[in-house]
Amino acid sequence: MCGIVGYTGPKKANDIIINGLKTLEYRGYDSAGIAFVKDNKINVYREVGRIAALEKMIENVEAAQLGIGHTRWATHGKPSPENAHPHTSMNRMITLVHNGVIENYLEIKEDLSSKGYTFQGQTDTEVIANYLEDDYKKTKDMKQSIMNMMKTMHGAYALGILCSDDKDTLYCVKNKTPMLAGVGEGFNMIGSDAMAMINETNTFIEIKDLEFLIVSRDEIQIYNQDGDRIERKPFTSNINALDINLGTYDHYMMKEIDEQPAVIRTLINEYVREDDINIDPKLIKELQEADRLYIIASGTSMHAGYVGKYLFEELVKKPVEVHLGSEFGYHLPLISKKPLFIFITQSGETADSRVALKLVNEKGYKSLTITNVEGSTLSREATYTLLLKAGPEIAVASTKAYVAQVTLLAILANYLGGNNIDMNLELSRVAHAIEDIISRKDQIKDIVHHKIAYSRNAFYIGRNLDYFVALEAALKLKEISYIQTEGFASGELKHGTIALIEDRTPVIALISQEQVALNTRSAIQEVLARSANATIISMEKVSNKDDDFIISDTYPLFSPLALVVVSQLIAYYAALEIGNDIDKPRNLAKSVTVE
Ligand code: AGP
Ligand code: GLU
Repeated sequence: MCGIVGYTGPKKANDIIINGLKTLEYRGYDSAGIAFVKDNKINVYREVGRIAALEKMIENVEAAQLGIGHTRWATHGKPSPENAHPHTSMNRMITLVHNGVIENYLEIKEDLSSKGYTFQGQTDTEVIANYLEDDYKKTKDMKQSIMNMMKTMHGAYALGILCSDDKDTLYCVKNKTPMLAGVGEGFNMIGSDAMAMINETNTFIEIKDLEFLIVSRDEIQIYNQDGDRIERKPFTSNINALDINLGTYDHYMMKEIDEQPAVIRTLINEYVREDDINIDPKLIKELQEADRLYIIASGTSMHAGYVGKYLFEELVKKPVEVHLGSEFGYHLPLISKKPLFIFITQSGETADSRVALKLVNEKGYKSLTITNVEGSTLSREATYTLLLKAGPEIAVASTKAYVAQVTLLAILANYLGGNNIDMNLELSRVAHAIEDIISRKDQIKDIVHHKIAYSRNAFYIGRNLDYFVALEAALKLKEISYIQTEGFASGELKHGTIALIEDRTPVIALISQEQVALNTRSAIQEVLARSANATIISMEKVSNKDDDFIISDTYPLFSPLALVVVSQLIAYYAALEIGNDIDKPRNLAKSVTVE
């Protein structure tokens, strides 16, 4: 699920691979490792914890010209040196790194054990290494053994493989987990993300599911699982290596929070036209003709989907359902006569959504992926794609992608609903409101210090649109501060959850919608009566002068875009004060490519 980088060429592979892994660090990982070919031997180095530790471990290793590196996000077996990748087969013939999960690894492991194979750790990955060795002993042909492996292993796998019999070749396999080849002059690379290779090349070759590569310095051969050679042209990526620079910031999360006004302006320029919209008319027609929209997403993207539902129902009067990718894939809701499925995903790689999209495709329905990553799997597999244009989002906690998702959904909903709102004006007002919030960061830092940072648990409450923001606000706070936080509909507290309010429990109320402002203020009274420590964040029009943080008015339907920024800053400062790793929170990965 995390990262793979491989290199073969004249330069020092040690540095190229370590640097590549560093660009993937933001995805979250628990251990890292690297294998080099040197003096006709494959040497493996593995370390639990940060890449810096691995870098130190290999600082005196001589320059190698071929190698593979990995960052692991444990799925099978705890983070330990034995479970870290690369894994080597029992007789050291095969060394490999793996992202993903092998579903039937236990039965294959049993079979290999009965043949005398032993295992150093608990991972599913080690089973692939030993399977390949066992098979290769018979075939003496890596190409054939890889094909056999692909027929035997079920699940998701991106693999970088070295074979001790041919130390000039990198093998690479892809199924349901991202993997790409990087093309250079006199060198070639493999990587789970273009970002890991962008310092060396901006030319890439797409690898599709159930394909494998044989990579040497001068050539990349692509094969399907039957061993047929496939020709595919490389493409040039417009990713800018500078986009992933931290600049003067301490954390990517803060950089990305600050970028949000610019993200909104980019989307206005990209999609909004006077009396029109700059979006494929075919897609617009599908959206108009659909009798119901089904939004499928996870985490923050699903929270953006809830706001989208509200906007579509208000402005377009079209029914919208929001589903979790992980649930939808295994229980299809009743589907209307003319549905359109909308997948919202920053990364475009979320496995739960991919399962759902597969089902949607099997049933022959049309789909749209709204994503930040051009060419990502969900984008390739859907009928239509709309890009968020937010630039790479590096911090694990999603911020600017949410703002981009809601902005784009608002642009769509307004256009389909008759284009009654001046989007240029109203979204610019939102961008200004966000700039104003950002200019008062210190005020938020102060609130966090006095009212939130040292609590065991907390609540965000709100009604109506504010409730949807409360869900996202709570996710953000718990992800990076580890304070157990619930986002709650303020009217629902009294039906049970109010039992959890204790002396000084932080309750953060979001108030932006006029029609429910007083109801939320009543809920605040209820929790204050039980000694809660309340913080009120309101929009000017519905504010009281004593509210803790007041944001400038926006068009009421677009208030989530501004409110959410306050909650992002609350989460940031809470994590900062507690001393957590803000960009790489524990146990989390940036793109969740396993189910
Ligand atoms: C956001 O802060 C989270 N880390 C997570 O909930 C994320 O939104 C979710 O995994 C979905 O990812 P996607 O948008 O890339 O599909
Ligand atoms: N399933 C493998 C493991 O637990 C790979 C995890 C990953 O994708 O990082 O080691």
